[in-house]
Amino acid sequence: MPSSDWPDVVLHVVSGKGGTGKTTVAAALALALARDGRRVMLMEVEGRQGLAQLFDTPPLPYEERRLASAPGGGEVWGLAVDPEEALLEYLELFYNLRRAGGVLRRMGAIEFVTTIAPGLRDVLLTGKAVELVRRQDKQHARPYDAIVLDAPPTGRITRFLNVNTEIAGVAKVGPIRSQADGVMAVLRSDRTAVHLVTLLEEMPVQETADGVAELEEAALPVGGIVVNMTRPPALPSVAELRAVEPVRLEASLRSAGVAVTPEVVQALREEGADHVARVTLELSERARIAELGRPVYELPFLAGGIDLAALYELADMLREQGMA
Ligand SMILES: Nc1ncnc2c1ncn2[C@@H]1O[C@H](COP(=O)(O)OP(=O)(O)O)[C@@H](O)[C@H]1O
Ligand SMILES: [Mg+2]
Repeated sequence: MPSSDWPDVVLHVVSGKGGTGKTTVAAALALALARDGRRVMLMEVEGRQGLAQLFDTPPLPYEERRLASAPGGGEVWGLAVDPEEALLEYLELFYNLRRAGGVLRRMGAIEFVTTIAPGLRDVLLTGKAVELVRRQDKQHARPYDAIVLDAPPTGRITRFLNVNTEIAGVAKVGPIRSQADGVMAVLRSDRTAVHLVTLLEEMPVQETADGVAELEEAALPVGGIVVNMTRPPALPSVAELRAVEPVRLEASLRSAGVAVTPEVVQALREEGADHVARVTLELSERARIAELGRPVYELPFLAGGIDLAALYELADMLREQGMA
């Protein structure tokens, strides 16, 4: 088994264009990291209960729950962060205000901060992730060896992770400012890596390239690129496909015992042409991904869908490729 490409990383942030498999990859990565008796926290912030669905458990409360075990005695824990609960925690942290929560709720203040001020919502969510990274018990042992964050999509990830810098403009000094500075220090450090999930398609690859540029500009640590749902080429290679002349195609069909009609030959040639187009596009997308200069990991499209067994399978592949 190769060693991990990210030995110092504690917080793995998984982003990507919506629908490319962020939640799936985050879960597989958590399982991969949990090998050999490690404890990993898989944290969800989008409020969709995607983790509960994936691990086939009842909806997660805002409470750390064990989701799955990993070979070698490891464990994956899950947490669906509820912004309202996170706000109460935050108020308690700074003002010992948890008891005021009921009052705030009646005043509609919580609705204000969670919906009207989405920036504050992100402050709470990133704050929670960093709290998990920093948490230690009385013996200074860390309850989690790694945290995997199923994060907002690429289009919002830089703003999401960078939100605490915006606080600097508002709070010049004091506990809120030092909390914000502390969160940014962790997110910018080599203890964090922001991985991006993509498909071998133009739009997701473009978003990935834009995402890498934005993250770098904001001095946030870009991790690896996960190319998800790849399909092995059904036919040997584009060059070989191009070489298939109608006459040869007919001959090989006959020798394979297929009744040859012009329709069959035509249909096969069209399929072949579509395939050439797809493979050619995938080759150029692969080249664009390689140009980003980041470690690349590849996961196949699993035709049977994603259940727990499939997650273990994907986890093995990530581990074999050195992502965990
Ligand atoms: N490698 C894969 N093979 C097959 N299906 C996949 C794979 N990765 C993701 N999926 C499926 O694609 C859909 C979107 O994945 P999901 O992880 O929910 O994406 P996101 O969190 O980015 O929206 C889901 O139905 C999921 O089961
Ligand atoms: Mg998701």
